[in-house]
Amino acid sequence: MTVTRSAITGVGGYLPPTIVTNDDLSKFVDTSDAWITERTGIRSRRRAAPDLMTSDLAVEAAKQALARAGRTAGDIDLIIVATTTPDLTFPATATIVQDKLGAPICIAFDVQAVCSGFVYALAVADNFVARGVSRCALVIGAETMTRLMDWDDRGTCVLFGDGAGAVVLEPLEGRGDSTDRGILGFSLRADGSKKDLLFVDGGPSSTGTVGKLRMLGNQVFKHAVVNISEAVVSAARAADVSLEDVDWFIPHQANQRILDGVAKRLGIPEDRVISTVAEHANTSAASIPLALAAGVEDGRVKAGHLLLMEAMGGGLTWGAVVARL
Ligand code: ACO
Repeated sequence: MTVTRSAITGVGGYLPPTIVTNDDLSKFVDTSDAWITERTGIRSRRRAAPDLMTSDLAVEAAKQALARAGRTAGDIDLIIVATTTPDLTFPATATIVQDKLGAPICIAFDVQAVCSGFVYALAVADNFVARGVSRCALVIGAETMTRLMDWDDRGTCVLFGDGAGAVVLEPLEGRGDSTDRGILGFSLRADGSKKDLLFVDGGPSSTGTVGKLRMLGNQVFKHAVVNISEAVVSAARAADVSLEDVDWFIPHQANQRILDGVAKRLGIPEDRVISTVAEHANTSAASIPLALAAGVEDGRVKAGHLLLMEAMGGGLTWGAVVARL
């Protein structure tokens, strides 16, 4: 029996050019390179100039993913942008990206699951591709998180950065087992009762403002390792793979200590973890596709490799996707 899989046929990433180091931050925030590096592993992050919007970062990442897939904007029939920092309250950033890319009339919408946005968006796109509705889907994680920072809150403003990553998904017939290329399984979770641990204190229907990011960092940390590990095990079960078979663990890049904690709990060795947190910081929904793009670019991640992607973010939301490249 054959099944239609959603194969990742192209990967792209884009980082805005301005690099902000920990030392740069310590000139206007009461912090130090030593504190940030020790607690988070972050050494620098990118910051988008005021005239660069989330859609601009998304478009650059999308162009690279399309080129690597051997596709053009004219082939696209679905665009999903995972973002928590849209250009505008509406329309969806996905429709702005569609227009900027010159893509034809198609399905385009945003997914809002904060740092888990990319794994949510991949799972949503999988349903369109595997059901035959989409033959060339663009799934993008794009963020300008630095716009949501309270620069007087040193507990949060040092943690985040800007960037975008994208993948092209196309249908591919498989045998229905874990040797297939494409998305093999996922698990998604949310617990709205934990909203106050990580949120933005503004919005169109509450304050009428954009608001600033607020976080109880050590409580988020406590939930992260346990929640993510459970979702990973569940996704691996859905994909019918063993964690020992995973070639690359590509986690959401929030904090090196969370990455290490999850990898240790799951028994995944350090040399199979893609970590970009040192240079990218936490780019929310962009962090997984950016890390994937970095791994593909430097030749570590190759066609046929089994990938495990996971994230946790505001909501709380969390989840994991298992895919073979
Ligand atoms: N520079 C210097 N000192 C700081 C800074 C800073 N940037 N930020 C906080 N401190 C101080 C605090 O004021 C506190 O000082 P005090 O003891 O005098 O009161 C001290 O450092 C310890 O503060 P904690 O918040 O307890 O520090 P902790 O060890 O928990 O580290 C951190 C904070 C890095 C935020 C950590 O909790 C964390 O990584 N949490 C995970 C949250 C996360 O990554 N969220 C991202 C979004 S969700 C996600 O993507 C998973």
